[in-house]
Amino acid sequence: MEKAFEYLNHYIEDGSIIGMGSGTTIEKYLPVMKAHIDASDLSVRFLSTSLKTERALQDLGLTVIHDAETVDTAIDGADQFTKNCIAVKGGGGSLLREKQVDYFADRLVLVAHEDKEVEGFDGVPIPVEINQYLYRMTRRLLEATGAVTEMRMAEGSSFITDNGNYIIDCTYNTPGDPDELHQELVNIPGVVETGIFNCHIKEIVSFNEQGFKTYN
Ligand code: A5P
Repeated sequence: MEKAFEYLNHYIEDGSIIGMGSGTTIEKYLPVMKAHIDASDLSVRFLSTSLKTERALQDLGLTVIHDAETVDTAIDGADQFTKNCIAVKGGGGSLLREKQVDYFADRLVLVAHEDKEVEGFDGVPIPVEINQYLYRMTRRLLEATGAVTEMRMAEGSSFITDNGNYIIDCTYNTPGDPDELHQELVNIPGVVETGIFNCHIKEIVSFNEQGFKTYN
């Protein structure tokens, strides 16, 4: 993991705006990045994909902004990924803002343990963020696409995202083409975003205990 994190540091350039992702991998990366910023005396501003990451960045004394014209590089984690750079994200519930920041970035770089590499997304829960209003009807339409659905829960209640929405995890035996599935899901009224990240991933940094390799 350390070597992968050192490699990620070369994306942190002086004067850049970095989109920072969410999850435990990113949490571990943040202090490594901060040490690099201090050692190289870099001036960097951050857009955060979640309130949790925003707090972590601020706790490290880093500058978080809430709007920007451009995002130079986004660095984020993944729940599953394929060699040809398609990923499923949202396991931590930070789906919508991740999709926005990651999509708007000139370069999106994902970092994940090699155990998360899959051949395809058969049987993989795909997080779908939905509006609370009439959510049962939205859920029925999700099921009509062939998904087995599970409402995301937290401490006995429905999980609420940073944006005030619910998440329904949708699992398919054979989900088919990720682009087509994403389109089918976002066409359902009430669906805000899906956890299928199929656009312009520049690189996936896949690490294990010894080192890392990259896919692009
Ligand atoms: C947050 O909702 C996610 O998209 C994370 O980026 C993803 O779940 C990876 O998280 P971990 O690094 O904790 O596995």
